[in-house]
Amino acid sequence: MGFFKGIVSFIGVASTVQTFANALAPSDTYRDADIGQSGYVGGDHNIDPNSVSQFKQLWNVTFKPDEKHYAKPLVYTLQSGRQIVFTASTENIIRSIDAATGEVIAERQVAPPWSMTGASCETVSKNMGIMGTPIIYPDYDVAFFFAKSYVEDFRVPGGAAPPMNSMYYLYAVYLDGLQDVYKFPIPTDDMPADNDARKIFLGGLLLQQPSLLHVGDVVYAGFGGLCDSFNYTGVVVAVNINTRWINRWVTQAGPSSLYSDDWTKWHGGGAGGIWQAGMGLSSDGQDVFFTIDNGGSPTDSNGTTTPIAGKTHQDVLSESVARIKLTDDGVQLVDFFRPYDYQHGEGQDLGSGGFSVLDPVFTTGEAKRIGVATSKNSKMYIHDLDNLGGYRQGANGSDGVLQTIQVDGEVIGGIGSYPLEGGYIYVNPGNAPLAAYRFTSASNSSSAGLFAIAGKSSAANPHSGVGIPTITSKNGDVGSGVVWITDPEKGLLAFKAVPVNGTLVKLTVPKVEGAEKYGRPVFGDGRVYIIDGKGKLVALGVK
Ligand SMILES: *[C@@H]1O[C@H](CO)[C@@H](O)[C@H](O)[C@H]1NC(C)=O
Ligand SMILES: *[C@@H]1O[C@H](CO)[C@@H](O)[C@H](O)[C@H]1NC(C)=O
Ligand SMILES: *[C@@H]1O[C@H](CO)[C@@H](O)[C@H](O)[C@H]1NC(C)=O
Ligand SMILES: *[C@@H]1O[C@H](CO)[C@@H](O)[C@H](O)[C@H]1NC(C)=O
Ligand SMILES: *[C@@H]1O[C@H](CO)[C@@H](O)[C@H](O)[C@H]1NC(C)=O
Ligand SMILES: *[C@@H]1O[C@H](CO)[C@@H](O)[C@H](O)[C@H]1NC(C)=O
Repeated sequence: MGFFKGIVSFIGVASTVQTFANALAPSDTYRDADIGQSGYVGGDHNIDPNSVSQFKQLWNVTFKPDEKHYAKPLVYTLQSGRQIVFTASTENIIRSIDAATGEVIAERQVAPPWSMTGASCETVSKNMGIMGTPIIYPDYDVAFFFAKSYVEDFRVPGGAAPPMNSMYYLYAVYLDGLQDVYKFPIPTDDMPADNDARKIFLGGLLLQQPSLLHVGDVVYAGFGGLCDSFNYTGVVVAVNINTRWINRWVTQAGPSSLYSDDWTKWHGGGAGGIWQAGMGLSSDGQDVFFTIDNGGSPTDSNGTTTPIAGKTHQDVLSESVARIKLTDDGVQLVDFFRPYDYQHGEGQDLGSGGFSVLDPVFTTGEAKRIGVATSKNSKMYIHDLDNLGGYRQGANGSDGVLQTIQVDGEVIGGIGSYPLEGGYIYVNPGNAPLAAYRFTSASNSSSAGLFAIAGKSSAANPHSGVGIPTITSKNGDVGSGVVWITDPEKGLLAFKAVPVNGTLVKLTVPKVEGAEKYGRPVFGDGRVYIIDGKGKLVALGVK
C-alpha cells in the first residue's frame, strides 16, 4: 500500500466526516496549464469571447510588500463545494482565497525564506521561498510545492546568510486548512545525483523555477542556477509521494563534466540549468520533457561538429531539449535535440522556454506526434515527439526536426496551442507581435509545411517579460477560442483564437495594472485570475 493510500485510510478511521472523494470541478486549474504544456486549458471554464467584453474587476488581494508571486495561482474546488484560489509566494506564504469573493480563508508561512543577498539576486525578490508553481493532486485534496529555506550554521558558520545553509523542502499541504500532510515536508538536500555521485544536491546553490509536474505518483521539479552564481548544475528531482523515494538527475554528469567542490566557483558544476522562464516541465503522460540552458557540451573537449543521434547516451547537455524516463534504475535520458548552430556559452538559448507536447490532432502524415520548442535565437522548432532530432541529424548537418520556423523575435517562455478549428499554435516574442500559425494538414506528406503563418496582433510586445499564450474555448464550440497573454505594462490581453484576414482580433478586457513577468492568467468558473504588475491578485469576470 502506498504512503498516501495509507494516510487516507488512517484518517478514514480517525474521522468519519472527512472523505476523500474527488472534489475537483471541471472549471478548476489544478496545475499550470495542462500536462503537456500545450497551453490549451480546455472548454470547461465557462468563458466565451462574447462575455469577455462584459468582464469587470471583481476583487483584488494585496499581499505583503516583499512578496512576489512568480508561482501562478491555482484554482480548486473543496469538498464543501467552495472554489478557492491557492497562492504561494517568495516569502513562503501560502493562502487559500475564496474564488468568488476574494476573502482570504487561510494563510500560513510554511518556513522562513532565504535572503537573496547571499546570491546578489535581490532583483528577483528580497527573499526566496516558493517560486515554481505548485501542483495539486485532486485525489487527495493536497497541493505540493518546493520551498527554499535554511538552517542557521547548518553546514558553514555565518547564520542563515551563506547559500550553503539554505535548503529545499517538498511540502504537501491539505487545501482545506493548509496544514501539512503527515510526514511532510521532505527535505531534498545532501544527496548525490543518480548519474554523478560527486554532485551533491545543495538547494542553496539552486533555484526551483519551472512549474511542477506530476505523472502518476511522482512529482517532478526542475532546478537551475540562482542568478547564475556558484558551482551549480541543472537538476531534475523526482519524488515518489507514496514510497518517498527521491531521484536526482543532473544535466552535467560523468568524467567529462565540470565539477568543483568550491561552491563559490562560477559555473564550477558545468551549469546547464533548467529554468524555462517558469514554464512547467511537460509530459505525454509517461516521459518528461524540458529544456536545458547554457553549460558544458559533449563537443567542448574535441570541438567537433560531428552529428550525434538523439537516442544515444549523453552525459553532458546544454542548449538542448531533453526527454527522460524514470525507470527502476533511476532517471534515464531517452532522447535529446540541440540546434546545429548552438552557442553553449552565450545563453543563445533553448533553455529560456519550456517544451510543448501538442494534442494528438496535431500529427504528421506518418502519424508522428508533435512537440514544439522555442528559443532566444528567434526560432521555433517543430519536433517529432518520438525523435527529437539529436545534433546535426538533418541534411548536411542541419537540424533533424520536422520544421524550423523563423519567428519575429526572442522567445522567453514557450508556445500555446488550440487544437480545434483546424489547429493553431501561438508564439509571443519580445519586440514583436503575437503570431498565430495554422496547422496545414495531417495529410501533407511534406512535413516542411506543417505550420504556416496565419495572423499577427496589430501591436508589438515590449522587449521582455511577456507571458506564454494560454488558450480557452467555451465547450469546444466553433468560434469560442480565446488566446490570452500577459504584458508587463499593458496587463492582460485577449484575442480571438482564429485570425481573420491575417490579423489576431483583439478582445476588450478590463485594464489590469501590468503583469508579473512571464506570467499566465489562470481560469476558474467564468473568471480569470492574474498577478498584476503591482503584485496583486486580481479576479476578472462577469459576476
Ligand atoms: C482593489 O480592490 C479595492 C477594494 O478592496 C478597490 O478599492 C480598488 O479599486 C481595487 N483596485 C483596482 C485597481 O481596481
Ligand atoms: C559544489 O560544491 C559543493 C561543496 O563542496 C559540493 O558538495 C557539490 O557537489 C558541488 N556541486 C557541483 C555541481 O559541482
Ligand atoms: C567527441 O567527438 C566524438 C565523435 O567524433 C563524440 O562521439 C564525442 O561525444 C565527443 N566528445 C567527447 C567528450 O569525446
Ligand atoms: C548539401 O550540400 C551539398 C553541397 O554543398 C548541396 O549540393 C546540397 O544541395 C545540400 N543539400 C541540402 C539538402 O541542403
Ligand atoms: C502542405 O504544405 C505546403 C508547404 O510545404 C503548403 O504550401 C500547403 O498549403 C500544405 N497543404 C495543405 C493541404 O495544407
Ligand atoms: C477578409 O478579406 C476578404 C477579402 O478581402 C473580405 O471580403 C472580407 O470581408 C474580410 N473579412 C473581414 C472579417 O474583414
